[in-house]
Amino acid sequence: MLPRPGFDKAGILAAALVATGRLVNAGPCDIYACGGTPCVAAHSTTRALYGAYAGPLYQVSRGSDGTKVDILPLKAGGVAHSSVQDSFCAGTTCLITIIYDQSGRGNHLTQAPPGGAARGPEADGYDYLSSAIGAPVKLNGQKAYGVFISPYSGYRNNKPNGTAVGDEPEGMYAVFDGTHYNTGCCFDYGNAETNSQDPGNGHMEAIYFGTGDGSVRGTGSGSGPWIMADLENGLFSGYSPTNNPANPTINYRFVTAIVKGKPHQWAIRGGNAASGTLSTFYDGIRPANGYDPMIKEGAIILGTGGDNSNWAQGTFYEGVMTKGYPSDKTENKVQANIVDAGYAATSLTSGPELTVGSSVSLRATTACCTTRYVTHDGNTVNTQVVSSSSSDALKRAASWTVRTGLGNSACFSFESNDTPGSFIRHAGYHLKLDPNDNTKIFHEDATFCPMGGLNSQGNSLRSWSYPARYWRHFNGILYIASNGGPFAWDNTVSFNDDVSYVISAGFA
Ligand code: AHR
Repeated sequence: MLPRPGFDKAGILAAALVATGRLVNAGPCDIYACGGTPCVAAHSTTRALYGAYAGPLYQVSRGSDGTKVDILPLKAGGVAHSSVQDSFCAGTTCLITIIYDQSGRGNHLTQAPPGGAARGPEADGYDYLSSAIGAPVKLNGQKAYGVFISPYSGYRNNKPNGTAVGDEPEGMYAVFDGTHYNTGCCFDYGNAETNSQDPGNGHMEAIYFGTGDGSVRGTGSGSGPWIMADLENGLFSGYSPTNNPANPTINYRFVTAIVKGKPHQWAIRGGNAASGTLSTFYDGIRPANGYDPMIKEGAIILGTGGDNSNWAQGTFYEGVMTKGYPSDKTENKVQANIVDAGYAATSLTSGPELTVGSSVSLRATTACCTTRYVTHDGNTVNTQVVSSSSSDALKRAASWTVRTGLGNSACFSFESNDTPGSFIRHAGYHLKLDPNDNTKIFHEDATFCPMGGLNSQGNSLRSWSYPARYWRHFNGILYIASNGGPFAWDNTVSFNDDVSYVISAGFA
């Protein structure tokens, strides 16, 4: 056997030694190989998935000049060298452009193209790329970044090499953030159609995570989210796209999700990716009506449905697809390896700190506008010139109380001082002042993660739910803007200045 790209002889030896328990630096794909079900696709922005893999994990592109850099592990089999990203992206924005396949088969994931269900919002109809800093995480104390999928984001490979087709057996696992999900179709990782269209039942077999998408959703016990299988035109929690009470709500901060399938049989398994073992939520026959035999096409998706349905959100840290149907025993060893990787949450914020309960003002730093502050006029959030001699009404309109993030307690929300109960939130990429209706979507729209100002002044305020987007004033109106995105307010000219604000004591 000749080493494939991304491997060396030591890696093959490593795989051989996992079974004997004599290898300390095995990765999940070494374990799958020892079980006779080798990885044919292996994706992670956080770590190498083979003990000997030292090649690129992912590529980022920066907004300041469009240049790109590959992020490698710190050492073979190790955690991503995230400080390379941090240095490369300092003072600008970065997007994840490629998630490399570590299996040596070239099954890399890149920006998802338009599909049967949806064009992406980019000018060419492609989906959004993910921010490189939306999902910071620690693995045994070392910082890395996951892939934060906002609605309309997605990655895909429609020219796969070696993944399961037709009714061939396969296994898949992924590690997700169990607190980041929605009801949109479809936060998936796995096997899908090679033309991004929906030709009918059974053409895909991917892991799905979330609370379903309406008419074709399965459910489990509780209110979700659930690990399900997206088998095309149906999210299956078990035998049929209805309720499977043995499939529990699973919302650990880090979730291991498994879907595997072979002729006439498939299974869903899951567990806490930070501790403990896997449980089996379904193991049985294939659903009726076009799902047995399967007609899998082998393309690889991350963050969207098979036909590019791109309304879902979620966070991906690592995942693989195998050739052959892995045994539960093999998957249990993979779970132990994931737990050993030591996934833990880390700070979502940086820069000057905000104090919950304090009243603040936010002053623009663009040269045009340094006497202008973030204010509101009705429910439009804008900038106005404010000073100590302004009217009391204007001073109150320019003062905001810092609250714990409504959608994520590691970030912040901003409550109006003159309209208590109303918060700054984004809607249609505009910032608005709206009353808190206590819905999940409002809470997430109203949560922002401060970081050091991109122009080195004050803070920039990143949207928690669309982390490629920041508070930006543009012609005096506030938006959430991405650097070079498809809208007028995404213009790259003076982007860093327009998204940086000096946050001081409130006027009122
Ligand atoms: O099966 C659910 C979704 O239905 C698939 O992801 C998509 O291709 C279709 O719209």
